[in-house]
Amino acid sequence: MARQRRLQGQSDTKLDKGTNSSSSNGSNSTNNKSMKTTSLLSYWKQIIGCIVLGIAVSLGYMGYLETRVNTPFDDKKMVVRSGLEVSEQFWGSYRPGLYFGFKTRDPASLVTGLMWYFPKRLRPGGDGIRHWCEQGDGLEKYGWLQHDGHSFGVQQIIDGAHVFDTSFVKRLGGAHGGDWTARISVDLKPNLKDSRTQNEEISLLWYTALDEETKGHISLTNSATKLTGIKGATSGLGEFTIKLTNHSGVVLHESYLSTVAPGLHLLKETVVASLRLAQDKPTAPRRIVLAGELLPEAGIEKAEPNFVAIQLTGKVPFTLDVVFESGSFGTRQDTLVGETYTKALAWHQARFTQRFEDTFGLQKRGYGPKEIGFAQAALSNMVGGIGYFFGTSKVQSFYTKEPVHYWRAPLYTAVPSRSFFPRGFLWDEGFHGFLISTWDLDLELDIISHWFDLMNVEGWIPREQILGVEALAKIPEEFVVQRNTNANPPTFFLTLQYILRKYYDKLSEGRLATLERLYPRLQAWFAWFNTTQKGSVPGSYRWRGRDPLTNRELNPKTLTSGLDDYPRASHPTENEYHIDLYCWIAIAADTLAKLANLLDRDGYKYEQTAEYLKDNVLMDNLHWSNYASRYSDYGYHTDSVKLKRPKPLPRSQNQNLEMIRVTLKNPEYRLVDSTFGYVSLFPFLLQLVDPDSLKLGQILDDLRNPDLIWTKYGLRSLSKNSPLYMKRNTEHDPPYWRGQIWININFLAVRSLHYYANTEGPYREKSEKIYQELRANIINNVMSQYFKTGYLWEQYNDETGEGSGCRPFTGWTALTVMLMGEHY
Ligand SMILES: *[C@@H]1O[C@H](CO)[C@@H](O)[C@H](O)[C@H]1NC(C)=O
Ligand SMILES: *[C@@H]1O[C@H](CO)[C@@H](O)[C@H](O)[C@H]1NC(C)=O
Repeated sequence: MARQRRLQGQSDTKLDKGTNSSSSNGSNSTNNKSMKTTSLLSYWKQIIGCIVLGIAVSLGYMGYLETRVNTPFDDKKMVVRSGLEVSEQFWGSYRPGLYFGFKTRDPASLVTGLMWYFPKRLRPGGDGIRHWCEQGDGLEKYGWLQHDGHSFGVQQIIDGAHVFDTSFVKRLGGAHGGDWTARISVDLKPNLKDSRTQNEEISLLWYTALDEETKGHISLTNSATKLTGIKGATSGLGEFTIKLTNHSGVVLHESYLSTVAPGLHLLKETVVASLRLAQDKPTAPRRIVLAGELLPEAGIEKAEPNFVAIQLTGKVPFTLDVVFESGSFGTRQDTLVGETYTKALAWHQARFTQRFEDTFGLQKRGYGPKEIGFAQAALSNMVGGIGYFFGTSKVQSFYTKEPVHYWRAPLYTAVPSRSFFPRGFLWDEGFHGFLISTWDLDLELDIISHWFDLMNVEGWIPREQILGVEALAKIPEEFVVQRNTNANPPTFFLTLQYILRKYYDKLSEGRLATLERLYPRLQAWFAWFNTTQKGSVPGSYRWRGRDPLTNRELNPKTLTSGLDDYPRASHPTENEYHIDLYCWIAIAADTLAKLANLLDRDGYKYEQTAEYLKDNVLMDNLHWSNYASRYSDYGYHTDSVKLKRPKPLPRSQNQNLEMIRVTLKNPEYRLVDSTFGYVSLFPFLLQLVDPDSLKLGQILDDLRNPDLIWTKYGLRSLSKNSPLYMKRNTEHDPPYWRGQIWININFLAVRSLHYYANTEGPYREKSEKIYQELRANIINNVMSQYFKTGYLWEQYNDETGEGSGCRPFTGWTALTVMLMGEHY
């Protein structure tokens, strides 16, 4: 994860400004004589002609280079079935950035969802209306408790004194993805029920909206005086109705809004602008209502609404059923509402519980109901957080003057955090793949397929995917552009390694066909890494994207590595090289070789590269420090740097200049071996260290050392005695990967301990012992923080174990479930 993303330095790539015009100066001379006979005029004509041709060729060539960054990889598409061809996956909770909302896997989907507020606590500007998952809402807890990624989900939300249970069940039928029903129950917290003196009013808004791409229409259905719901038709959904009924509780009043919203990112603002005060009779209480029809007149005809919302205000406790019915579902026996819904939901829940136990075996391992509840929630937020996005990234290459648009494309992906990072991240997704493939292999293959369709002709995949207005609205403009010089750890190779190891026997024909289509893309991806991220010394690799010119940062960040501010060489140069990237490439080659073998392709060169890089002699020569006895990066480095506030100039207005970095001792080329932490562990984390290497023994000792990275809560990212342990990178950037405990790397560590504990060698027992300890520490802390705070967190404090960073973070932190079930 990268919280503070900055535009990348553009100056760090040696560019091959390849021109294909080579001119030879000296002429060799069999033609000399005839040259002389050429008239001066035609001589000049020729020259001018050559120049014009040269310019045209090079313009054409430049034009060609300019378009490469956003030209799709030219081969069979990965996603072969989409939209209604996969009708069971058409509808879903594919808007993870919302507390509760649905859309379809259709580029131009209708969207629908919930907003709510307590009228008594609504403040000017709409403060108090809940819609998008915002940390600022300060909810005590929210997240899926159960969700199977297909057909149902159960979520709990705690907002102040109130508990919201939101759930949905899908029912297939007809030609447009079938029906679903969503239920929202609001009640006081159990411990407040006795003291209940008044039933507070709650307003629930259910809306549907179309974006400009969606062909179709929506409107209200009126039955006599009561509003009952919304009806409409779109190209993807055919005709449909949405009916609202109160399953229990009394509706005090209802109102609606039918209007034109300026965009899907402004739905809440549109609601806020339309709220009014109304009174039934002079003596009646004044109520906050929606304004009704607010349609601009376009000429004589009124514009068509693209946003219809119904507000029901009731007294807590209150339960609302929202029933979506598809017009083409002709064989429907009964409506999925009321008791029918209650039963259907219970059936799904029981099935889920069984499948969860079959998959992870937690009961079998002695976990109790509360712990299993935690694990179910972690998994459910991962699969319930899967979104469907459609749009274009903005990308830039050396050859494009300005950022340009990537092609418009869908992305089906899990997200790291529903509040803070509700979009796709390349290296996170490889980690997510461990859990998702364990739960549902085909779901994971579908996700991988979508990601690899985003590969361009160069073999590059942008690392952060900001597709569509809802995603874009969550990120500052300056962080949007993705550069094609920049990598991100190719973690999908790890997912594939896991799938090949674990599900080799389950690779049916259909799954193999997916891997067949994937193979050429993986080859291109590998080639892109192996060439563009090459280091200056044979066998070495270097992350691009570090800023060599900045004097703001204590240690220029390496966002591309995924480990943002983890300290590297203090002065970035083209001669540095990075041990983590070396390991990623080794694993990539190895996995590709295994896949080639499975698919009966010629994987010889991948085998060769894997063998070459896995050779511990090469790795040790490049990266092992005999002095510090650890693996390290290499580069132009000094530890003697610090942030200092410059002295203001005399009589200067600005007395408070930003701190800058000062270098107290000249850097020199060396291993960066005073630093110890996650990066030093990579040869172990990716299982490249030979099981009988003495270095493995050293790594295990260092890993278990509380003075270095061992804590009761997991491994801290940077050892306490590293020079930049918990140091700020600028005065505005607090430490991020400089001590905090991250679960993705801890997962890799546990997985490796398990591997070395089960592999012949002198360190089996030691590995086994540490394996048990580390596994227990992580599970206990993530779980106890969840019970204490209601959330899984982005990272954990290495002194106290407390959650920090953003929340909920049910991306890779949810890998805790893998540790509980011992799936590696
Ligand atoms: C809502 O539900 C309750 C109980 O289920 C019922 O008594 C009431 O009439 C319903 N309708 C409205 C509009 O409140
Ligand atoms: C990767 O790059 C190295 C060095 O440039 C080269 O020798 C090797 O053959 C490449 N591997 C593959 C599989 O292309």
